[in-house]
Amino acid sequence: MKFYITTPIYYVNDTPHIGHAYTSVAADVLARWRRLNGHEVFYLTGTDEHGAKIAQAAAKAGQSPKEFCDYISGEYKKAWEKLQITNDDFIRTTDTAHESAVKYFLQKLHDSGNLYLKKYEGMYCVPCEKFLATQDLNEDLCCPDHKQKPVTRSEENYFFKLSAYRDKLIERILDDAHPDHMEICPPERKSEIIGKLKAAPLEDISISRATIEWGIPLPFDKAQTAYVWIDALLNYITALGYENNSEVFKKFWPADVHLMAKDILWFHSVIWPAMLIASGIPLPKKVFAHGFFTIDGQKMSKTLGNIIRPDELINSFGPDAARYLILSLFPFGVDGDISRAGLTERYNSDLANNLGNLANRTLDMIEKFSGKVIPQGAVLPGSVSEGILSNLSSSEQLLENLEFSRFTASLQTAIDTANRYIQNTAPWKMAKENNPELPSVLYNLAANLKIITAYILPFMPMTSQKIWEQLGETESVESTAKKFFGSAPRDKSFILPHPGAVTQKTGILFPRIK
Ligand code: MSP
Repeated sequence: MKFYITTPIYYVNDTPHIGHAYTSVAADVLARWRRLNGHEVFYLTGTDEHGAKIAQAAAKAGQSPKEFCDYISGEYKKAWEKLQITNDDFIRTTDTAHESAVKYFLQKLHDSGNLYLKKYEGMYCVPCEKFLATQDLNEDLCCPDHKQKPVTRSEENYFFKLSAYRDKLIERILDDAHPDHMEICPPERKSEIIGKLKAAPLEDISISRATIEWGIPLPFDKAQTAYVWIDALLNYITALGYENNSEVFKKFWPADVHLMAKDILWFHSVIWPAMLIASGIPLPKKVFAHGFFTIDGQKMSKTLGNIIRPDELINSFGPDAARYLILSLFPFGVDGDISRAGLTERYNSDLANNLGNLANRTLDMIEKFSGKVIPQGAVLPGSVSEGILSNLSSSEQLLENLEFSRFTASLQTAIDTANRYIQNTAPWKMAKENNPELPSVLYNLAANLKIITAYILPFMPMTSQKIWEQLGETESVESTAKKFFGSAPRDKSFILPHPGAVTQKTGILFPRIK
């Protein structure tokens, strides 16, 4: 089975912050999860590099737009590498192949009568890169997001007949049985979009700019460049080789999930699908909008100086914990607030005290009471180990539904249960009393840890591999877990301990942070 997942392509007007990391890590957990299940995954991310906003940021930095884009795009690549993001491709909208495919697409749209030229005057917000209607402004007549007065702009632009697609959009969103059905998630967002679509006719949108040089020239009118959003949305098909109808395009399109925050859902669930319908291209199967998060109750912004960069998280907690923490703090679909203190608290409770402690104690017990050798044993029906495995298996649906924080809560429940098992069986007492059940209990201790280790892999790949090795495994956790998750019915021997394997404790996984 194929699985094509995308994040938005991020603007290069600034280096990445944890808002961007949030989407990229979520997509990565899902991509890793699907790969473990034997799916052929294509995970796309990249950078959005055209438009006035970028040209202005470049000028401010005293660089040419291209130099500036190269630098910031490189920063994104570095950040994703540090966060262990396993994207299969990284598209830049300044890539020659993308530029050529955008022209090809727009030419077709023009040829099929979907575009027309119109003089337009309106209030334009430069940071938003869009014209605003009066009702979009706040009481000071400023853009509510940028607190700036929009400028009056008049130009002759090409317009896309968006209005013609309203009924088709509503039908494809609402009708589950439509062959070209597009799901919008979570359901509250779907209702919002449908409500907006039904409330008023759609207005056609301008897809070109006469005044912006830093963009892709229209093939049929070199005096205009493509509107940055149209250029950007096309990345999802150009990256696959849409222009040449490549094998990759045929295999992976339509996308299985477009992931983003709610700020850009309208573009993805209305404008983008309308462009696709107009061009006879199937719609993405699912568009998922997650919430926006604030820092200490405030929107992240340069002016407030409260931006958290991925590096800061990685330096404080390490790359694995950083991934785990941002997804575990609040439910994925809703807005949430993050604080440095909250992150530290969660790190200490979930990772240092719970998971770290479990690994430490399990390995300690096997070291002390079995000379580092995993004894013979079995996971019997009705045992604690079997319970942990069955609970984690039933939590898999949460990952499929992108309910990351509920999944990490299930992980914590499993870890709690495993820690309690150590407390309740008290191997130190059993050793004193020469209890013959001790080897079997130690085996189950190792089993609990190993099962949990397989399930933390999509979130914390390095930690998972480390614990795996500590349990004396020589094959990588990734390749073994693939055999487990990919087997039908599941063959649990792949994630149970190997009697005779020699454990090796190496340092503390998650040192406590004060
Ligand atoms: N370039 C456009 C997207 C084009 S996609 C065809 C863009 N870029 S962006 O750099 O502004 O990134 C927006 C995305 O970053 C959001 O949709 C979301 O995925 C992520 N986030 C940015 N700030 C965020 C928060 N504070 N909270 C959650 N997600 C955040 O829009």
